Amino acid sequence: MFVIGKLYKTLGGYENTKLHGNLSFVGSLCCAGGVWAIYQNKENSSKPHFTSQHSQYAVYLLGVIVLLLLNGLLGLHPDWGFVKANKLVRSLHHWGGKALLVGMCYLCYDGTSKVVRDDQMRLAFGAPLAMLAALVLA
Ligand code: HEM
Repeated sequence: MFVIGKLYKTLGGYENTKLHGNLSFVGSLCCAGGVWAIYQNKENSSKPHFTSQHSQYAVYLLGVIVLLLLNGLLGLHPDWGFVKANKLVRSLHHWGGKALLVGMCYLCYDGTSKVVRDDQMRLAFGAPLAMLAALVLA
């Protein structure tokens, strides 16, 4: 969702910017839903929460998602964004968004560390993620 939304934003224009916002909103809900599902699963099996580095990164990134979403929705929306002409805010959103997507690629790769032991398998999983990270930086 985020990557497709990013690509629409790169195309530019009023409609594409709104589509970027909507896709980013749905992507944010998916991320929050995923964290909630894992949290509930741990609750149900009486396991402690956020003990691994991977889960802690996920919480930090969720925080960044909330900030970017609020920033985009309230500040940059083409219809009502109250700081939509502010270059610094736009630049922070632009680069913060790209950093988030790269961070999410790393988070997915990091998630394999406990479940995939074979280095070649990890590389096979990580290489497309590295390419995706390079794509979002373009
Ligand atoms: C978690 C939610 C969001 C993420 C991760 C995100 C991510 C991004 C990224 C990566 C870019 C750079 C796109 C490029 O390469 O051209 C960008 C730009 C932009 N986004 Fe978002 N975005 C989010 C929410 C929103 C929302 C809700 C809006 C409102 C419509 C919005 C409006 C914009 C605008 C106007 C830009 C252009 C900023 C500039 O470069 O001048 N974003 N966003």
